[in-house]
Formats: sequence, C-alpha cells, structure tokens
Amino acid sequence: MKRSMKNPKVILVGAGPGAVDLVTVKGFNAIKNANVILYDALVNKELLQYASPTSKCIYVGKRFNAHAFSQEDINQLLVDSAIEFGVVVRLKGGDPFVFGRGGEEVNFIESKGIEVEVIPGVSSALAVPTSQGIPLTKRNVCESFWVITGTTSDGNISKDIALGAQSTATLVILMGLRNFSLIMNEVKKYRHKYTPFAIIQNGTLASENILIETLVNYRNAIDSIDYTSPGVIVIGDVVAEHPAFLEEEIQRVLESSI
Ligand SMILES: C[S@@+](CC[C@H](N)C(=O)[O-])C[C@H]1O[C@@H](n2cnc3c(N)ncnc32)[C@H](O)[C@@H]1O
Repeated sequence: MKRSMKNPKVILVGAGPGAVDLVTVKGFNAIKNANVILYDALVNKELLQYASPTSKCIYVGKRFNAHAFSQEDINQLLVDSAIEFGVVVRLKGGDPFVFGRGGEEVNFIESKGIEVEVIPGVSSALAVPTSQGIPLTKRNVCESFWVITGTTSDGNISKDIALGAQSTATLVILMGLRNFSLIMNEVKKYRHKYTPFAIIQNGTLASENILIETLVNYRNAIDSIDYTSPGVIVIGDVVAEHPAFLEEEIQRVLESSI
C-alpha cells in the first residue's frame, strides 16, 4: 500500500457506555472529521450518522464467539487505513483503556511510526451504575470501588475478585455474566450473605434492565440473565440505595411473616 499525501493519524475515541449523547464533545468532533472509522460491537451505531458522508465506516466488532476481525487484523487495518486515507477514528465502547485493548493498539500504531491520540470515554463501569442511581462510593457506606474483569483471557474469573471481596469496596464486574455463578460463589466466601448486588444490562439505553438480589439468593437471578446483551455486576452495600432494593426487602419481610 502506498503512503498517501495526507498526514496519517489514528485517534482512539471512547464512544461512551451506550446512549448516543454520552460521547464527549471532543470524541464527537473527531467522529465528524474522520476519513475512516473502525467501530466496535458495543458502540451505538447512531453515532455513525454524524460521520462525514465521504468517510468509510468499518465494523470490526468482537462479541462472544463472533469476531469480525482478530486483534492483529484490527491493528494492521488501523495502520493501513491511516496511511491510505489520513485520519482514522478507532471508536471503542466506553473508555478505550478500560478492558478495551486500547493500549495494545496504541503500541502497535506507534511502532509503525504513526501518530496516535486517545480521547477518553465515559466508561460503562461508572456510567451504568450511576444511571441507575447506584453510587459507587458513599460517605459512611463505601470508600472505594474496584473495577474487575469477570472473564480473563483464559476464560476464568480474575483472582482480584477474591481480593476485592475481602475489602469493603464496591465491586464492579465487567464481562462477568457467563461466569456469574463462579463470581457469586467467590464473593460469598468473604461478604455478608445479605450483601445486595445488581445486574444492569444494556445500561443507558432504552432497553436498560436491572435486577437486584442478595448474595444468599443469587441463584434467583440466573434465569433472568440475557447472555446476548452486555451487563455490569455491582456488588456492595451501595446497591441498597436503589429504590427497587427497598421494595424487594419489604416484599421479603411480608412473605416471611405470612
Ligand atoms: C470489553 S469490555 C469494554 C468496556 C468499555 N471499554 C468501557 O469502558 O465501558 C465490555 C463490557 O463492558 C460492559 N458494558 C459495556 N457497555 C455496557 C452497557 N451499556 N451496559 C452494561 N454493561 C456494559 C459489559 O460488562 C461488557 O461485557
């Protein structure tokens, strides 16, 4: 492929958690000015409407067992597109550096001598609980939060889940739905059995869905999980701040007194 006359550049842009208006203004402007856009599965496709009519939009999404491109192919395509067309936006769900392989892409692009910029995004780790009114920290309730993967590269849960469960932090687990039972069994070893947790799916979108339970009753949640949609698991006392938790507690007390 020939080097073009234009200055090749790749901009990693965080598209935000789902809702089209949760992208940053800087990210939005980068989308409007891109010559090529390579976008992921969890990016809201409505954002592409704001791209220039002459820009090329390429889907490179990787969802469970359905990869349009390998990571190596994506890295190479970013470089080749920048050389051929100029400014490439790499549009990634949430924030590019939160479980997004953004760091690997930056390293590869830089190793080919091409300029890279990273525009942060609103991560689902924060935005999804927040949009449900669940604060990740709260004075006198919780002093910190951990964001942990529920599926490591070998398919297991992260060892940090056990470490986090031994703290008093709110646990925010991404990519955890397929390992849900393993995660709950691990956390139950260290946390009180009535610790509340929430599973929030399709957060910030019209199809958003939340389920709240306590660790002791985690099995009640299994049948309601939609494995085709992204979900965040939030574990900790802050989940009790959600209005649905109080309603369920009242229901539980009523049922146990019958
Ligand atoms: C590969 S990670 C990428 C995270 C992304 N970089 C971020 O900062 O949000 C994908 C995971 O993020 C979570 N996720 C992303 N968007 C979500 C949404 N709208 N609702 C719930 N979970 C979401 C899910 O746990 C999903 O499996």
